[in-house]
Amino acid sequence: MYTTINEKRLYELAKKLLQKEVLDEQIAINQLREVINYADWKYYVQSEPVIADFEYDVLYKLLKELEEKRPDLLSPDSPTQRISAGLSERFPAVSHLVPMLSLDNTYNADDLNDWDKRCREFIDETEVIEYCVEPKYDGASISLIYDNGLLLRGATRGDGVMGEEVTLNIRQIMSVPLSADFIKQGINQIEIRGEIVIHKDKFENFNKQRIAEGLAPLANPRNAASGTLRILDPTEVRKRGLSAMLYHVSYYSVTANKEKPEQLNTHYDTLQWLYSLGFPTPAKEMKIFKHINDVIEYCHEFEQHRDELPFEVDGLVIKVNNIAMQEKMGMTTHHPRWAVAYKFKARQATSKLLKVEFQVGRTGAITPVAKITPVPIGGVTVSSISLFNEDVVREKDVRIGDTVLVERAGDVIPYIVKPLIELRTGEEEEIKFPINCPACNGLLEKQPDEAAWRCINMSCPVQVVEKLIHFASKDAMDIRNMGTANVQKFFDLELLKDIPGIYTIDWDKIKMMGGFGEKSVTNLQQAIENSKKQPLNRVIYGLGIRYVGENTSKILASAVANIRELYDWDIEKLTTLGDVGPKVATSVADFFSRIENRNTIDLLEAAGVNMVNEHKSQPKTEGALNGKSFLFTGTLAKLKRSNAEAMVEDKGGTILGGVSSKLNYLVVGADAGSKLEKAKKLGTVAILTEDEFLELIQ
Ligand code: IVH
Repeated sequence: MYTTINEKRLYELAKKLLQKEVLDEQIAINQLREVINYADWKYYVQSEPVIADFEYDVLYKLLKELEEKRPDLLSPDSPTQRISAGLSERFPAVSHLVPMLSLDNTYNADDLNDWDKRCREFIDETEVIEYCVEPKYDGASISLIYDNGLLLRGATRGDGVMGEEVTLNIRQIMSVPLSADFIKQGINQIEIRGEIVIHKDKFENFNKQRIAEGLAPLANPRNAASGTLRILDPTEVRKRGLSAMLYHVSYYSVTANKEKPEQLNTHYDTLQWLYSLGFPTPAKEMKIFKHINDVIEYCHEFEQHRDELPFEVDGLVIKVNNIAMQEKMGMTTHHPRWAVAYKFKARQATSKLLKVEFQVGRTGAITPVAKITPVPIGGVTVSSISLFNEDVVREKDVRIGDTVLVERAGDVIPYIVKPLIELRTGEEEEIKFPINCPACNGLLEKQPDEAAWRCINMSCPVQVVEKLIHFASKDAMDIRNMGTANVQKFFDLELLKDIPGIYTIDWDKIKMMGGFGEKSVTNLQQAIENSKKQPLNRVIYGLGIRYVGENTSKILASAVANIRELYDWDIEKLTTLGDVGPKVATSVADFFSRIENRNTIDLLEAAGVNMVNEHKSQPKTEGALNGKSFLFTGTLAKLKRSNAEAMVEDKGGTILGGVSSKLNYLVVGADAGSKLEKAKKLGTVAILTEDEFLELIQ
C-alpha cells in the first residue's frame, strides 16, 4: 500500500495540499490519507522521517477538518482514526505533535566530558556552548497544548508517540494555568512539556491515608503522580494535590505577520518567559555555565542538597542553551543530543542474602537471582536481585548468608554492590552453580567468550515458553491476550509447542477446555490473524535472535525485500549496515544459517505471516547507490538531513554513524567540524557539497 507513493510524489502532493490547490474534497481526503499514511509508515516503522513535523501536523489537521466536514467520507482506516495498542483504554489515545523523547543518562564527570565532546562535534571550534542546568524532576511527563491562549489538551507521555489525553485531570492541577496571554506574544499554538510531581509531604500523607484504609502504600512519588493522572475521578485528582514543573517548549506556531518572541532563542529565556506568563518552571533553579568543568562541579555540589527540595529529584538535566545550536545537534531515535541527564548516585541499603535461585531465559541463559530479606530502597521494596552470571558472583565473592550492600542503579534496577565481609560469621555458604538446567535437567554449556551458562536443549520448556511470549509481545507481533498466562496454559496443555504453532492452534480444544468464553476466543483469533500483517521488522524482532533488539530488527528489515535474502548475508556484509557490529552480525548470520530457524520461517510464511518488506519488494528504478555509504555533517541548506538520508537509502545506499574507512561519501553542509577533518585525513572518502550530492542522487 505504501509503495503507491514515493518521496517525490509525497512532496508534490504535500505541496499542493498545503497550498490548498486540491479543490475536490474527496480527492483531497484520499491524497491526504495517502501522504499521511506514507509519512507515518516511514516514521514509525522505518524510523526515517520524510516530512517536517510541522507540515505533517498541518496535513493531519487538514484531513481531520475535511473529514469533519464530510462525515460520509470518514473511513475506519483513515490515519485520523488510529488508536494505539497497549494504552489504557479509559483515556483517548492522542498523538504527540513531536515525539516525546527520553534523555540519555550520565553518571560521572567522564560521561559529562564525553557528552561535551560529542556536542562540540556539531559546532565550530571557536564557538562557545552555554549549558543550562536544572533539576531532573522524578514524576510523570506530560505535554500541554495551548491554542489561542487556552489550555486545549493535556496528555501523558504514553509510548512517546501516542499518549493518553488527560486534560480533565490536568485541569485539577492548580499550578497549571488554564489560559495564558500567548495571543499578545504572537503565538497561535504552543506545546509545553514538563513533569507532574507530588510533593514529598503530600505523598507521605497520601500513603498514611492508604494504610489507614487498608490499602497498600504506593512505592514512590513517581508512581503516585503517574497513577493519579490516570484516575477517573477528577475531584480525587484535585484532592491529591499534584504539582507541575514545565521545562521544554517542543512546538509553537507564530501568528501571521508577527515575529516570534525573541525569548524563544534560548532555553533559559524561554523558561523565564513562560514563568512570567504564569507557568511553573525552574526559573529560579536554572544555572548557566560556559564550561563543562563548572557544570560538573555544580552537579556534585547540588547532589549534596538533593533532599532539600520539596519533591524528588533523581538528577540534573544539562541542556545546550542556544536553541539554534540545539537544532543543529538534533536527536537520535531515543533522545535529543543537546540535553543529557546527570543521574544522582542511587540509594543504598543493606540486607541479608537468603538464597539464590536459577532462572532460565529465552535464549537459555541461566541467571542467578539472589533472594534477600525485603528492604526498602528509595521508596521501593527490594527482595529479589539479579546476580547476572557466574563471573559476577565470583568477582564479588558473594555468599549465602552474607550481609550485602544493595543499590538501585539509575533508581530502577537493584543490584548487589558487595558483601560486607567484616560482618561474616563463618557460616556463609558458597553459591553453587547447577550443572544441569533447572527447568529441563539438560546439560549446561558455556562458550569461552561468554559469561553465561546456557541450556542448549532446544525444547527446554522454559525457553520455549519465553520465546513464545516474546514473539507475541507488544513490541514484536503484538498479539493481545497472548501473554505469559495464556502461553503457559496452552503450552502446559500441549496445545502450543512452538512459534508457528500459534497459527495452527486447535480452537475447538480451547473452547472445550473451559475458562475461555466465545468472545475471548474470537478476540484472540482476531489478534493472531492481525499479527500476520505485521511489518517485517516486528517479525524479525519476534524471532528472538540473540542481540537483535527492535532497532537492529528495523535495520535488518529495511535492508532486504524478503527475509530470505538474509540467508545469504555473511558477517562482513551484515557489518556494512549502520549500527551492526561483529557480535550482532555473527549472531544474525548464525541464526539464519540454521535449518530449524529456516523451517520456522517457512512454516510462518505458509501460515500467512508477512515475510516481505513491502517497500523494498516493489520494483524500483533506484539502486544506483547500492553498496555505497554516506554520512552527512554540518547544516544542509536545502534538505532536511533526515530527508537526505532517506534519499540515499531509497537508492540502495547506507548511512554510516561516523567517518571510517568504510565510508564512501561525506556530504558537507555549513559549519562542518571534526568529521570533515577526519575524512580529509583518511583521504579515501569523497567529500561532496550539498549541490554535488543532489546532482549525484539525481
Ligand atoms: S527535558 C526533549 N528536563 O526525565 C526534552 N526532562 O529521563 C526532553 N525530566 O522524559 C526532556 N526533569 O520526563 C527534561 N528538567 C527536565 C526534566 C526532564 C525530568 C524527565 C522527562 C524525560 C525523563 C528522561
